[in-house]
Amino acid sequence: MGDYQRLYIGGEWVAPVQRGVFDTLDPSDESVLARVASATFEDVDRAVAAARSAFDEGDWPRWSGAQRAEVLHLIAEGIRIRQDELAAIEVRDNGKPLPEALWDIADTAGCFDFYAGLAEQSDQQGEQSIDVPDARFTSSVIKEPVGVVAAIIPWNFPMLMASWKVAPALAAGCTVVLKPSELTPLTALELAGIADKAGLPAGVLNVITGLGREAGAPLAKHPYVDKVAFTGSVPTGRKIMQAAANDIKNISLELGGKSPFVIFADSDIEAAVEWILFGIFWNQGQVCSATSRVLVERGLYPALLERLIAATEQIQIGQGFEEGVKLGPLVSQGQLDKVLAAIAAGQQEGARLVSGGGRPGNLEKGYYLTPAIFADVPEDSSVWREEIFGPVVCLRAFDTEAEAIRLANDSPFGLAAAVMSRDIQRCERVARGFRAGIVWVNCSQPTFVEAPWGGYKQSGIGRELGEWGYNNYLETKQITRYNGEPWGWYLK
Ligand code: NAI
Ligand code: MG
Repeated sequence: MGDYQRLYIGGEWVAPVQRGVFDTLDPSDESVLARVASATFEDVDRAVAAARSAFDEGDWPRWSGAQRAEVLHLIAEGIRIRQDELAAIEVRDNGKPLPEALWDIADTAGCFDFYAGLAEQSDQQGEQSIDVPDARFTSSVIKEPVGVVAAIIPWNFPMLMASWKVAPALAAGCTVVLKPSELTPLTALELAGIADKAGLPAGVLNVITGLGREAGAPLAKHPYVDKVAFTGSVPTGRKIMQAAANDIKNISLELGGKSPFVIFADSDIEAAVEWILFGIFWNQGQVCSATSRVLVERGLYPALLERLIAATEQIQIGQGFEEGVKLGPLVSQGQLDKVLAAIAAGQQEGARLVSGGGRPGNLEKGYYLTPAIFADVPEDSSVWREEIFGPVVCLRAFDTEAEAIRLANDSPFGLAAAVMSRDIQRCERVARGFRAGIVWVNCSQPTFVEAPWGGYKQSGIGRELGEWGYNNYLETKQITRYNGEPWGWYLK
């Protein structure tokens, strides 16, 4: 592992003012993977000042979209050239299986290319003229970058989550201070190195590693930050919103979910099992959009449950580099403890644990958990209602379409939802019935950078990805021009 004991501020690699470090672990064997610079409020001040002056005085916001796109394409290329190495860092820092880490890195590069494309297009779009009902005026609208962006991201898709915020923000002409999660800080620092090599001007992207309380909190409430873009837990999202209230900062929040998957009895059982598994066990279930609540039409429920248990018990658990592994360790001891506590609560509340939910016997070290299935889960139990963020799926039977939609929507969250049936019209009806920002039909989880991402209700505010993600980082300005005779109100 490289040297991660410096922060990237104003185009320089600098030691944190208080010289602090923290350890990031390899969750597969609990060893220290790297010692990492631990930023505090002094470093936050420096990073925000660098981003502020790059925005207020630098070239980046004033360049054409095409000029910015050139650098973004170079960043994408820089990521692709090192994709195997970056994926390997992700496996070691987060625990995820290598093939999934390779998807992450490919999508990270793709995200930079996509927003480079939108930056190029924005040059052509220019001003939008507005019809106003008075011939003495012409009015038009232009888009401008929002300013200095604080991007605070989680540990489940470390480099990919960085790109979902950094790429559109930079494309729009903003400058950024990025704070990765203290559990998986390494690829954010690698991204800084890649952006530096790609010729990104100093101060446009700053990366500070550090703890939530010591680095995240002062960043979120910094008066020189114009916008906070956050992905993570609801409690932290609430704190970010409170901090933003002081200066009426622009915020976007992508928080958790407890997403339903409604499966009708006419579904192909193998397809249903495949997508249930993918919907909850990829990335060890540490996915905000995981379809963790599965509603199965009663006629199919017993057979589906039996096939699901058999398939789940075949899942190969192990270290992310091992061939055939589909479930790595959870990210941390804390996350493992949280998931184990949720499983214990579910058992107490009358949900039937029919598979997994314990430590695998053959792995002594590492934060491993066998994938868990709860059947016949009561509607009011905590495992049915609360986000677990681990490889735990809950099943329940339903009798009618209306009941399925009611159960699906009975949640404080509204990030994603999925439906499966051979009846296309029914799928379309149910898709429209869900109160969620992302709906999958006959699948669960596939995500495209072109399509909007975000939730209803407590799952957050705003949308990332696609043109929606780009607009997150733009202000709208109207310019109204008077071309008439003297106004003649005060001065006749
Ligand atoms: P978290 O929400 O506390 O952390 C996310 C980011 O926020 C990290 O970079 C962290 O350093 C930062 N942060 C923490 N406290 C902060 C504060 N007061 N001000 C500003 N930034 C702060 O999530 P954590 O503790 O890593 O995981 C806890 C739970 O959150 C998980 O068990 C899971 O349920 C949920 N989660 C949801 C994610 C999602 O994609 N929606 C991603 C990760 C976690
Ligand atoms: Mg780690």
